[in-house]
Amino acid sequence: MTYTKRIAAAAISAALVLAPLAGCGASGSQPDAKQEQGTEQKQATIDYMALVNKQNKLPDGWEEALDLVEEKSLLYEDPVKVERKAYEAYQALKEDLAKDGVSVELDSCYRSVAHQQEVMDEFTKEKGAEYAQTHVATPGYSEHHTGLALDLFLVIDGEKVYENDEMMKYPEVWEKVHAKLADHGFILRYLEGKDDITGYAYEPWHIRYIDNPEVAHKIMDQGLTFEEYLGVAEEAKAANAKDEAAKKADYEVDYGTSEVYTHDDIDAAVKAVMAEFGTWKGCTMKKVAYTNDQTCKDNLEYANSLRKEGTPEFTQAMVLTSDFHSPSAEEAQGTAWEPDTDYKDYTWTLGRTDGGEWQLLTWGYA
Ligand code: DAL
Ligand code: ZN
Repeated sequence: MTYTKRIAAAAISAALVLAPLAGCGASGSQPDAKQEQGTEQKQATIDYMALVNKQNKLPDGWEEALDLVEEKSLLYEDPVKVERKAYEAYQALKEDLAKDGVSVELDSCYRSVAHQQEVMDEFTKEKGAEYAQTHVATPGYSEHHTGLALDLFLVIDGEKVYENDEMMKYPEVWEKVHAKLADHGFILRYLEGKDDITGYAYEPWHIRYIDNPEVAHKIMDQGLTFEEYLGVAEEAKAANAKDEAAKKADYEVDYGTSEVYTHDDIDAAVKAVMAEFGTWKGCTMKKVAYTNDQTCKDNLEYANSLRKEGTPEFTQAMVLTSDFHSPSAEEAQGTAWEPDTDYKDYTWTLGRTDGGEWQLLTWGYA
């Protein structure tokens, strides 16, 4: 988990260890001093105007062309990584802001797809699926993969302010930050009141480098989203509305008959399943069904074999099956789903310790 990897957590404050959800979240594992990567000349170039959002994945070949530089993180063991030009522009922005008495630092910037999955899992666990879906991109669809998205945090009176909720308490500081973005080729990506277009809640800290101050000014001065500037806002809005509707779609819960579990027990397990399922882009749940007491009992040993090392033994297992519909051909591109297909009896296995919460362990066809 991210919080176990924060640097010098004990030295800052013990409370920080328990409060890991900063910015869009990030994690790392190797302590390191400032160093540079990608000093060799990259052959391909990246498109600084590329749109990566809920409908548009990271373009193919991006990582190969990406030239990242690293800076020692003030929050994590791993260094922060940023695309080279974006990093230079950030340093100029930071200096410019210092003149206004505003102090910003880097939280999470470049993230691999695997790292994004960790962020998604962490936010889903700590804040719930709904919060995660409005604040964290599905792996593969995060602007953080580009190396051009920077999550800033604030330093106020010498204190680091990096928790999302805390950062929201300084609108006047963010206003000063946002006023300087365009001069340095940055835009604000997730605008207040435009989540129907961007697909995400307001994030005053998430800025995006587009390498062109003139265009950045056009966007920022008119208060546009990147989607609006690129002329794809209506399309994005429609796709986001469709996703929303699919998420809200009613699914049936078949409680079967159980001598062991109450409907509340089953509902809690279904909730854990839906927290994961909710991140499956374009999939619609139709039905979740309790199997039966014997199947659950028979799977206890298996559940324990999937338990994280060093965690208490599960005393109960639950096996659920589900029927769902896979994404449309367009949305299923690049995924393992057979497009537009009804999947039946897809199995989910969960485990629970005495008095504990259900942990989703595995899913798929047996
Ligand atoms: N917080 C933004 C949406 C991301 O996870 O990419
Ligand atoms: Zn971000």
